[in-house]
Amino acid sequence: MLPLLLISLLPTTMSQIIQPLSPPSLIHPSGVYIRATPLSPSSILAAYAAPLDTHQALLTSLSTDNGTTWSPLGEVWRAAAATHDIDNASPLQLPSGRILFAFRNHDRAPGGAGYSWYRITVCFSDDGGRRWGFLGHVVEHRAQGLNGVWEPFLRLGRRGEVQVYYSSETGSRGQENLMVFSEDGGGRWSAPIVVSRREGARDGMVGVAEDGRGGLICVFETTEDGVFSVNRAVSPDDGYTWGERARVYTAAGGKNAGAPQVYKVGGTLVTSFMTNEGVGTPQLDGGQMKVVTSVNGGQTWSSGGAGSAVAATVAADVGAHWPGLYAIDQSHFLALYSMDGIGAVSQLYRAG
Ligand SMILES: *[C@@H]1O[C@H](CO)[C@@H](O)[C@H](O)[C@H]1NC(C)=O
Repeated sequence: MLPLLLISLLPTTMSQIIQPLSPPSLIHPSGVYIRATPLSPSSILAAYAAPLDTHQALLTSLSTDNGTTWSPLGEVWRAAAATHDIDNASPLQLPSGRILFAFRNHDRAPGGAGYSWYRITVCFSDDGGRRWGFLGHVVEHRAQGLNGVWEPFLRLGRRGEVQVYYSSETGSRGQENLMVFSEDGGGRWSAPIVVSRREGARDGMVGVAEDGRGGLICVFETTEDGVFSVNRAVSPDDGYTWGERARVYTAAGGKNAGAPQVYKVGGTLVTSFMTNEGVGTPQLDGGQMKVVTSVNGGQTWSSGGAGSAVAATVAADVGAHWPGLYAIDQSHFLALYSMDGIGAVSQLYRAG
C-alpha cells in the first residue's frame, strides 16, 4: 500500500511527469538553434549555427551514445556575417543514407539595413555528415516589403517524398506557414501548400510530428492574440491538408511563449517552447525553455495555459535560446538548447 503522503502527491491530471536525468552535455560552445536527426544505425546528428570570427557557419556534431557526449563532425556552409545571414538548421537523413540540411540563407542589404535576397537552401552529405555539397534552393526571391522566408523544417513523407515546412512573411498582414515537397530528393519543389494562415497574425516556427493516431500534428507560434502563443494544427493526410487550429499554450501575465517544437515520445506528445512568463527577461528569447505534454494525440495538454492549475515544466532555466527536441526511445527525449555562458547543449529527460 502506498503511504498516504505519496498518494496525495500523485498527479491528478493525465499529464506525464517530465524529469531531467542528466546535466547538460556540451555540443558546441557557441552553437545556436540546435536540431537533430537520427543517423543509421544508432547515432544522432546535431545541426546548428555558430559564429566563426567574422563569419557565420552551419555545423554538425555526432553523438554515438544517445547525447551523453558529442564530437565535431562537419561544416555545411560558411558566409561573411556582414553580408549574409545564415541560420535555422534542419537536418534529415533519408532512407538512402543521404543527409539533407535545410537552412535560411539570406543576403543582407548593402549598409546593413535589412535584407536584399531571401532563400531557403538545402545541402547534402553522402558520407555521414562530414563533407557537404549544395543541392538547391527550396525558395528564393528578392526582398521586397515584408516577404522573408524562415525556419525550414524537413520531414520525410510516407511516399518517400521530402517535405519542407517554413514560414513566409505576407507584407504588413504578417506571416503564414507553408509546406512544399519534392519527389526527386530535392531537385524540384512543388507549389506551396498552406499549413496555417490567420489574417493579421504572424504564424511561424513550425515543427511537425506524428500524432500517434494516424495523423500529423504541427505546432507553431502565433500573434493572433497580440503576444506570442503556441498553437497547433492537424493533418489527416500526411501533411497535404491542415485544419483544426487550436491553442496549445498561452503564457501567463500577458507574456510571450514561442519558438515551439513537437516530438512524439512513445505515447506522449511533447511540445517545447521558450517563454518569459514568470521571469524577468524582456523577451521570450533568453527566457526559459518549457515543455507541455499530451497523451491524447494533442487534443489536450498538460497545461491549459494562463490560469491553469498545471504549469508547464521548466526544461531549461533563464538564459535558454531556440530550444529543440529529439526522441531517444519510448520514454526518453533530449532537450536541445543554447544556454548563456555554456553554449549548445543536450539534456536527457524522462517523459512519463
Ligand atoms: C541508446 O538508447 C537506445 C534506446 O533506449 C538503446 O537501445 C541503446 O542501447 C542506447 N545506446 C547507447 C550507446 O547507450
